[in-house]
Amino acid sequence: METLVKPNLEVEFCNFRCENPFLLGASPISRNGEMIEKAFQMGWGGAITKSVALEQDLEDCSLSPRFVNINNGGSNTEFNFKKIGMTNIDFRIDKSIKDTLDSFAKVKKKFPHKFLAVSIKSEYKEKNWKKLTTLAANTGADALELCLSCPDSGKDDFCCNRSKGYQNTEQSIGQNESAIKNVLSWVKAVTELPLIIKLSPNVNDIKKNVYVAKEGGARAVTATNSFKSISGFNLRTLEPLPTIEGISSVVGLTGPVLKPMVLYYVSEIRKEKNINLDISAAGGITCAHDSIEYLLVGANTLQIVTEVMWEGFGIIDELRDGLKRFMRYHNFRSVKDFIGIGNRKIKSSSKNLSRNQQLISNIDKEKCIGCGKCYVACSDGGYEAISFSQERVAEVILDKCVGCGLCQIVCPIHDAIYFTNKGSKERIINEG
Ligand SMILES: Cc1cc2nc3c(=O)[nH]c(=O)nc-3n(C[C@H](O)[C@H](O)[C@H](O)COP(=O)(O)O)c2cc1C
Ligand code: SF4
Ligand code: SF4
Repeated sequence: METLVKPNLEVEFCNFRCENPFLLGASPISRNGEMIEKAFQMGWGGAITKSVALEQDLEDCSLSPRFVNINNGGSNTEFNFKKIGMTNIDFRIDKSIKDTLDSFAKVKKKFPHKFLAVSIKSEYKEKNWKKLTTLAANTGADALELCLSCPDSGKDDFCCNRSKGYQNTEQSIGQNESAIKNVLSWVKAVTELPLIIKLSPNVNDIKKNVYVAKEGGARAVTATNSFKSISGFNLRTLEPLPTIEGISSVVGLTGPVLKPMVLYYVSEIRKEKNINLDISAAGGITCAHDSIEYLLVGANTLQIVTEVMWEGFGIIDELRDGLKRFMRYHNFRSVKDFIGIGNRKIKSSSKNLSRNQQLISNIDKEKCIGCGKCYVACSDGGYEAISFSQERVAEVILDKCVGCGLCQIVCPIHDAIYFTNKGSKERIINEG
């Protein structure tokens, strides 16, 4: 039940009081000051700009096409299945560095109360990092985000993020602890602004890099950048996607599919007692529900990209309203009242969970439409614990059911399948 509490959405991030935790993430949605201004007027708490790179004054145009829809029916289906993600090879801003930074300076001046971090990226060259840092800091930004983790770190690309030249490696800087440390020291030598390290998800132990960031003097981390991936193929032409004159490259995966993986990363970082950095979450946030989950595992701010690219800046209304409703429901006055509290209930291994809880599945005959999906799933992927008659009546065979939950996942009707403890009639709520 909602209470009369007036929720305060403000959060502290990089020594700045943001009016709410919702930030535009680095991407086309924040590629110039005009777009950021539009979002600020609609109520976003802040923005991380698209990464500024010296190459944008050299390359004369970007790749085309550069996005692929990833859905649950394959990468290039003709059917309108649910979109679960998107891949991209969108690695540069189409304007000169000067025009870009001037527009960021203008928006920051107009909205001093909104958080603005300029993102920068460069190849592994001290001179370049220092130059970009100085240019970006001159915009009056509140912080700089160092994009060390662009997924485009192959051999022949123009992208500036690989640490090649340092240890003759093709890793991105964000995959190499010494490279992260050195870049941080170059940047810190020319600015006192708070620094946010954009983490690569493509590492064995993300916490190691967070420790490097902390020791190098970073104020915050963003978890995480896009995941390295392959979009898929056009099965008629056998060409990979997105196809550019018959070929493609490794791409960056973003959107809803990332959420469980990035939730894990944010939780792992927050649980590390000695780290104590601000955390900005980026990965698959689509709505207030996702946002709250990230706050529960310890994020201070929330960066959103793919959902904005699909649905527009207007999603901020649902994000703020949903967060307020949640806070009223739980009587939380401030967002910091619940940042990280979800971690208390997450064990590092399922070995630590009780075996006392044993559930069985129940079918609500009023709601069941007789589709038979639960029968097929339990027969071929479960415990053969559902019978299905010629009249299309599904029934649970009680002494076979182990309460695994597969039937509920495949059932198309909400609540047609529910769980009870063995020997009890009380429903167990086992969903979001
Ligand atoms: C088209 C596109 C371009 C992006 N460009 C950048 C970039 O320039 N710098 C950067 O650090 N991250 C970039 N990202 C990554 C996002 O900032 C973010 O980390 C990622 O999209 C995950 O969030 P999402 O699931 O809400 O999209 C880009 C993402 C997309 C989709
Ligand atoms: S809970 Fe598992 S074992 Fe029981 S009916 Fe459903 S799928 Fe079968
Ligand atoms: S999947 Fe759901 S709707 Fe379909 S038969 Fe089973 S219980 Fe009924």
